[in-house]
Amino acid sequence: MDAAPGDMRKGLHVITWGCQMNVYDSARMTDVLRPLGYRPVDTPDAADMVILNTCHIRDRAAEKVFSELGRLRVVKDARATQGRRTVLAVAGCVAQAEGREILARAPFVDIVLGPQTYHRLPEMVARASRAAGAVIDTDFPAEQKFDFLPDTQAPQTPGGVTSFLTIQEGCDKFCSFCVVPYTRGAEASRPVASVLAEARRMVDAGAREITLLGQNVNAYHGAAPDGRVWGLARLAEALSAIPGLARIRYTTSHPRDMDDALIAAHRDLPALMPFLHLPVQSGSDRILDAMNRGHTAAQYLELVHRLREARPDIALSSDFIVGHPGETDADFEATMQLIRDVGFAQAFSFKYSPRPGTPAAGAALQVPEPVKDARLQALQALLRTQQDAFNDATVGRTLPVLFTGRGRKPGQISGRSPYLQAVHVDGPDSLIGQITDVEIAERLTNSLSGTLVQERAFA
Ligand code: 5AD
Ligand code: SF4
Repeated sequence: MDAAPGDMRKGLHVITWGCQMNVYDSARMTDVLRPLGYRPVDTPDAADMVILNTCHIRDRAAEKVFSELGRLRVVKDARATQGRRTVLAVAGCVAQAEGREILARAPFVDIVLGPQTYHRLPEMVARASRAAGAVIDTDFPAEQKFDFLPDTQAPQTPGGVTSFLTIQEGCDKFCSFCVVPYTRGAEASRPVASVLAEARRMVDAGAREITLLGQNVNAYHGAAPDGRVWGLARLAEALSAIPGLARIRYTTSHPRDMDDALIAAHRDLPALMPFLHLPVQSGSDRILDAMNRGHTAAQYLELVHRLREARPDIALSSDFIVGHPGETDADFEATMQLIRDVGFAQAFSFKYSPRPGTPAAGAALQVPEPVKDARLQALQALLRTQQDAFNDATVGRTLPVLFTGRGRKPGQISGRSPYLQAVHVDGPDSLIGQITDVEIAERLTNSLSGTLVQERAFA
């Protein structure tokens, strides 16, 4: 859909990399540009504005951005020959960390903006259309972007049955390896009233599950209407009182912020799903210390123990980094042991990659690449065994599944178990948006298949 002459409508194409927070931010940028006439389009050549929402967390992020920019330059030039302008914007964490370099290497970029300044996007677009040069805005402004972004009218995630809601941003933890405190800035929480209002709108628009997002979501401390500051547990309690909201999840958490109230919430709130992504990164105290994580392996195990006391079936997920500077074979073995001790339902694992400007990047004793490769392989093999074992243990059980959309095969619908497992069944589209019991029949590579209990009863 291209803008016809005289038409106020303009095409907007957003390319998103990285975490769910970026997915959420892309939806918000689309929202702030709507009043200017921008509507989403599927391809860059139909777009009057293209935004690359970037991620800087691991390797080669900037290179990916530059190669995409190379492709977009061709599109921009082609459109220019037809007299059509294309505003190119680079947003997100690469923009924050490497804004000046982007403009130096890709001078055809019009706007560079960091994650804290999305509410100023309309003004930047106006300036970019007037100015000859590029507009750069990677401040950490005193005003909060949460105070300026419009509340959405409807969930922006496809399907809308499960929605993501950012409640917290930034991080003050300064893990040795991580760019987030530099790109996303200091920890900040959104006020309770605004979170509840957005959640209600999402539910009105059909959401049955909301995942609360934040880089350090369990550090949440939002100003509440009662004049107090609420933690995540209190917020989850208030959310669980919203009629029609059946499921609440949150991600990503830090072990240090897993307080008693939040552990108790896993026992007391049926809507709080029995799944927790709680990154530990390493099982070696020496490396945890070098990473500045602020906890030991034993403290993590103790947390897991208390969570399982509160909610015995809770499924655990984690992030791991292998090859952090200084990691020896013994350190790596301690990580393997922690994994054996916990038993994870799923996990993400990465080779350490130096991020410029972070303390670990300059550390002595960088681990050679082949050693990292071997460690990652061994770690992933162990995690795969655990994930399969966790999924196998649900075969034969009946689980409530929230159906979110059609499956890949005709006549199939798919959804999620309480433990975030993907589940496919043969069933009618009318069940999409509903929670229905499914008897799990089989484990596939990364999902489960089953049969609808209701249908069997009537068969
Ligand atoms: N190298 C490798 N992995 C990293 N992560 C963050 N920074 C780095 C890095 N420099 C991983 C951590 C974090 C996840 C989102 O990405 O495991 O929890
Ligand atoms: Fe990065 Fe550590 Fe903050 Fe997580 S807790 S965002 S890994 S600095």
